[in-house]
Amino acid sequence: MKVATSILSVKENIKGSIDRLNMSNTDYIHLDIMDGIFVENITWHANELIPYLSNNQKPLDVHLMVSNVKSYVDEFKLLNPETIVFHYEAVDDIDSMINYIKSLGIKAGLAIKPNTKIEEIYTYLPKLDEVIVMSVNPGLGGQEFMMPSIDKVNRLKEYKLNNNLNFIINVDGGINNNTIKLVRSADMVVSGSYVTNNNYEESINILKSE
Ligand code: DX5
Ligand code: ZN
Repeated sequence: MKVATSILSVKENIKGSIDRLNMSNTDYIHLDIMDGIFVENITWHANELIPYLSNNQKPLDVHLMVSNVKSYVDEFKLLNPETIVFHYEAVDDIDSMINYIKSLGIKAGLAIKPNTKIEEIYTYLPKLDEVIVMSVNPGLGGQEFMMPSIDKVNRLKEYKLNNNLNFIINVDGGINNNTIKLVRSADMVVSGSYVTNNNYEESINILKSE
């Protein structure tokens, strides 16, 4: 199972955290970007993160929990992320935003909140590189995994296989050594507090062994 580690719960020495992640087996560094509008919390703008990423070697999975998606895409393209994921609930013209991200040479992902049905995004799946199935309500780290996400992940995987599609299914929120066992049909998970509140290398290796 691929693992993306979120630094959202890291309260100090973010540079040290990212350096540690670069010495770990994490497959991606997951950047949770919040604007205080789409979600209550505010996290980082791209220019705040640039100094922390000076030695970064890991691919970046940028998760935009923002209302003005295009403005943040234009900011975060400067970090050369592998993927930019925006929320289905934040954008009217989803197709144009997917096309715009891809026109920058960046993979495009779509995230859905727990109360958004997978059927609502079927039409976009052939164009997507990644789907984030949120297993918590966006906006906070350290929340409990929401059990109804299990069925969503399994049905999305079934749809992907039945339609011969190749987007990555990524599950984000409340992932630890126990809950990861419930979403084995996913391609990747995001884990924040379970990793950054414990021994990074050990926690990541436990998750990757699932
Ligand atoms: C929540 C974020 C998640 C979260 C993951 O809005 O999108 O990435 O930070 O953190 P944990 O693993 O602590 O739930
Ligand atoms: Zn996230």
